[in-house]
Amino acid sequence: MNFEQLKPKAESIILNTNKTVDERLLAICELLEVNVDYYNWIGFYFKNGDKEELFLGPYVGKPTDHTIIPFGKGICGQVAISNENFVVPDVSAQDNYIACSITVKAEIVIPIFINGKNIGQIDIDSNTPNPFTEKDERFLEFVCNKVAEIL
Ligand code: SME
Repeated sequence: MNFEQLKPKAESIILNTNKTVDERLLAICELLEVNVDYYNWIGFYFKNGDKEELFLGPYVGKPTDHTIIPFGKGICGQVAISNENFVVPDVSAQDNYIACSITVKAEIVIPIFINGKNIGQIDIDSNTPNPFTEKDERFLEFVCNKVAEIL
């Protein structure tokens, strides 16, 4: 399934008020994991109240020890501060990177904004080197914008 086909599926998951928000976020992770072969770990991180840290929300993939990430630490912590997409074609080339699994080769993190405020992000790890293009960024921005509507 390509991104244009996945968009309406993501939208209908997000708008399904029969499920809780966390159930819908998990279903989004599952949709992406099943349909994009180079998306191997998919999760949502959110700002933890007033603290300068992120906590892990719904995800699919191997359990991670990094359920709390301080702002500034790793790719995720940097996006919490920069408010910008972070595409990492080769994680081994990053100094400020938190490894979750030795199989991971690349990562993409897209922030989620509510009223212009960065409140969280979607984080995707890939076991494929350099797999992400601008199409991934545009698609994941679409998903993040839709998710922001139900948070
Ligand atoms: N690699 C991330 C940490 C989260 S895991 O990928 C699940 C980072 O450097 O922030």
